[in-house]
Amino acid sequence: MSKDKANQRSKGRPKIIAIIAQKGGVGKSTVSCQLAVLFSTFGKKVLMVNSDTHQNSIGDALRDREDANIVCVTIPTKNLRRELSKDPLTGNFDIVIIDGEGHIHEHSKVALETCDYFIVPILPSQFDLNSYDKYVNAVVEPTLEYKDLEGGVFLNQDESDASSTETIDMLTEYPLPVFSNSIIRSKLIRKSSGLGMGIAEYRRNTAASKSIFKFSKELINAAEIKIKNFTYEEFAKRSLIRRESRKGVSSNARAKEASTNIEKTTRVQLEPRA
Ligand SMILES: Nc1ncnc2c1ncn2[C@@H]1O[C@H](COP(=O)(O)OP(=O)(O)OP(=O)(O)O)[C@@H](O)[C@H]1O
Ligand SMILES: [Mg+2]
Repeated sequence: MSKDKANQRSKGRPKIIAIIAQKGGVGKSTVSCQLAVLFSTFGKKVLMVNSDTHQNSIGDALRDREDANIVCVTIPTKNLRRELSKDPLTGNFDIVIIDGEGHIHEHSKVALETCDYFIVPILPSQFDLNSYDKYVNAVVEPTLEYKDLEGGVFLNQDESDASSTETIDMLTEYPLPVFSNSIIRSKLIRKSSGLGMGIAEYRRNTAASKSIFKFSKELINAAEIKIKNFTYEEFAKRSLIRRESRKGVSSNARAKEASTNIEKTTRVQLEPRA
């Protein structure tokens, strides 16, 4: 197929972002949640994918959020590639976020094969750097040898201390690009994600909301995701409107509306091939 035809074909297909890591508990689901809500806040339709081999409370909270712009699905690793290459995804979603599985290298490999752009969160510690080194060698590098794919690593739970600075310095010695914007460690990020809320819906104009915004801005530039009027002011304004508009609507009514939307879309998009 000519390059032009390939480009035409990829027009309208969602951008697939994989959040993968060498271990559990580094913030994959937290960052997935924040990104999903941020994209949805700017009017993007988001498909949030996890493989749910263990309970994912952030994923559940996001599902319970009843946001018509976010559909959460569980796809087992073995079906990921097939499900995400289906044509019905085209036009129905702008962005797919794969919330990776810590520990399970097979899931990372399939996510890498499937995605358009990947990000790897890392915590500020020597221990995390050691396992990151092994992970890049065993999982990421082999995929990059045969697939032209871009991605980067970023520090999550940055505390602006010696350990954080040292981790960022060390990361620059590895082959993957390092994001200039880290995500800070903040209980506001932990709490909002646990409720399935965006950070700026929970508390606007905080260091945490600015950190998530700046990181997201770097990501959308790197992954070539187009969002109009992507400024912090707009993010804060839209988040406030969304927060306010959710008040006064009975949770039952919202739950009913959302589950209908989700079921409808999920059924159409993700039925197994006959
Ligand atoms: N930037 C942050 N600031 C404060 N707490 C954070 C931050 N990022 C993640 N956490 C907390 O760290 C814990 C692990 O985060 P999370 O569940 O997102 O990790 P994970 O990589 O998805 O783990 P798993 O591999 O088990 O799915 C959670 O309690 C979460 O609230
Ligand atoms: Mg998780």
